[in-house]
Amino acid sequence: MRIIEHIAEMRQWSEAARSEERRVVLVPTMGFLHEGHLHLVRDGKKRGDRLVVSIFVNRAQFAPGEDFAGYPRDFDRDRRLLENEGVDVLFHPPVEEIYPEGSQTYVTVEELSIFLCGAQRPNHFRGVATIVTKLFNIVRPEVAIFGEKDYQQLQIVRRLVRDLNFAVEIVAHPTVRERDGLAMSSRNAYLSGDERQAALCLSQALKRAECLVKKGVLDGARIIAAARSEIEAQPLAKVEYVRLCDPVTLDDLEEIRNSALLALAVRIGKARLIDNTVLKR
Ligand code: PAF
Repeated sequence: MRIIEHIAEMRQWSEAARSEERRVVLVPTMGFLHEGHLHLVRDGKKRGDRLVVSIFVNRAQFAPGEDFAGYPRDFDRDRRLLENEGVDVLFHPPVEEIYPEGSQTYVTVEELSIFLCGAQRPNHFRGVATIVTKLFNIVRPEVAIFGEKDYQQLQIVRRLVRDLNFAVEIVAHPTVRERDGLAMSSRNAYLSGDERQAALCLSQALKRAECLVKKGVLDGARIIAAARSEIEAQPLAKVEYVRLCDPVTLDDLEEIRNSALLALAVRIGKARLIDNTVLKR
């Protein structure tokens, strides 16, 4: 596996791969890899001839006071894991190259960024859209893979690709869960034993909503109340939002017509956890 730190070298490598008609796949990450990331990596291997995984903890998507400084990092472990998966390139650029002194250009996907997590984290998706644009411009992949756990991010990236005419296919990978249902996330590392147990309320809330829909309940308020009460039964959990929305526009829905996104954000101790499911009638 080649480790590339500089943008110029990454561009050269990518250009060479394309000139040999290799299909380049990108899996963007912020590192501290877990089995969920490795599922994306394995999916990526199947979808092209050359696989690039980027690791960059993107300060621009953290608000002041959020966990940028404490965000878990373990580059040596990540490198070993990616080597074992047969990744071709680990792209690990320094912050000064990605955001050189005087940087003042950002990418905003306006409407999709204001709902859900965007309401609590105002510049978060501007940071995500900006780094994803930069990675697409540098690596120029034909395919890029994103997890469905970050559903709003996925929709924003899809819209960004459409609106800015990027020639990249966006692949959504289903959320990878622990055996007991907890969605895998680097931030699960913040959870103590009791908090880890309490965190199961997110996937349980989604399951409860899925059961209601199976029984024919399509009313948004009832579904939200049921999911919310599942989370609120857990004393360590603090609901940030429980929303039922259109899966493409992310506008709130009062009832499920065809399908609806049920999205949750919950604080448990130091961790802010998100999860979601698409409910189909
Ligand atoms: O999902 C993530 O890990 C990040 O938001 C991403 C897409 C790598 C951009 O920093």
